[in-house]
Amino acid sequence: MLSKQVGVKFFDLLRPVLTKRMEYVGKHDKLTPEQVRQLILDEADRNHAQWYSNDVPDLNYHLPACRLAYLYIVAAANATTFKWILKNDPDLYQHVTGIAKAKRQLNVCAFGAGPGTELLAFAKFFDEEKLGHAVQVEFQLLDIEKAWLDSWHGIRDAIKDHFRTSYGPDFSSWPMFPNGNFMDQDVTKTDELDNLGDIWSHDVFVINFVLSELFHDDPGFRAFMTAVTSRAPKGSRFVFIERRGGMWERRMTNCAKEAGLRLSPFQEKSGWMDPGDGELLLGEVYDQLSKAPGKGKSPRNSWRVVYSIGVKE
Ligand SMILES: C[S@@+](CC[C@H](N)C(=O)[O-])C[C@H]1O[C@@H](n2cnc3c(N)ncnc32)[C@H](O)[C@@H]1O
Repeated sequence: MLSKQVGVKFFDLLRPVLTKRMEYVGKHDKLTPEQVRQLILDEADRNHAQWYSNDVPDLNYHLPACRLAYLYIVAAANATTFKWILKNDPDLYQHVTGIAKAKRQLNVCAFGAGPGTELLAFAKFFDEEKLGHAVQVEFQLLDIEKAWLDSWHGIRDAIKDHFRTSYGPDFSSWPMFPNGNFMDQDVTKTDELDNLGDIWSHDVFVINFVLSELFHDDPGFRAFMTAVTSRAPKGSRFVFIERRGGMWERRMTNCAKEAGLRLSPFQEKSGWMDPGDGELLLGEVYDQLSKAPGKGKSPRNSWRVVYSIGVKE
């Protein structure tokens, strides 16, 4: 093991992704760094207003500045939440570590996972678990917005760079090796599911802050979940994470009932970023975006959710 081994920190991984993409947007769209920052901060305001509009949020994920605003403000906090649940939910923990130890591979299907939040969480989780061998994490990503590919790939590459620096070039000594397949898929539409046959052989399915973007109790989403569940292996786990509130719990309950999943009791949890994993690790990006005249913003540094784990019986 190399002496330069350091733990995974979400803001550390996000720094190169944000830096490179902000530079690219400036160059490609012929904007000054200052104009790029203003666009990101405008989109951050817009995202916030839309998420709390009490209706289907109208988000600009097709625009790079909107996706960058999501990565800057939300991604690390949501990754911290999911990593916390992986570590602290006893049933999910046993399931994930049991499969990872037995197969050295974990198959994950994540709905609305374009940004790469769930990938960040697994990288930190397996780095902290120190299982003593590499785990190949095979992601099947489903997202309606294919432009998220830039962010998922950027995060994947940042994780590989981090593990290469910490553990050396031989990836069998890394704690995790990430792989991903991206499908631009609306999770409220089942039309093409039959053509996709039996690809749903995943150990873990993640539905992390997707219900609140669909907003309504969408019959199409319930049908999609039912179709996926019917093809998923027995014992697979479905992790539902949402903002708190009876409305979201009812959405999860309806969806699980129709799909035939056994749901664990709802858990309301909250927390902060892990010690040492703070926005200062974003360096220049944080300096610039937090101090922009009149409207500087900081990333979220806490989380507050309700979650439940569904089991395919
Ligand atoms: C709030 S983000 C959550 C991202 C990530 N799971 C997290 O927790 O950070 C919602 C994601 O769901 C995707 N999404 C929204 N509606 C969708 C739909 N109908 N089908 C598939 N993905 C959708 C968005 O593109 C976005 O990536």
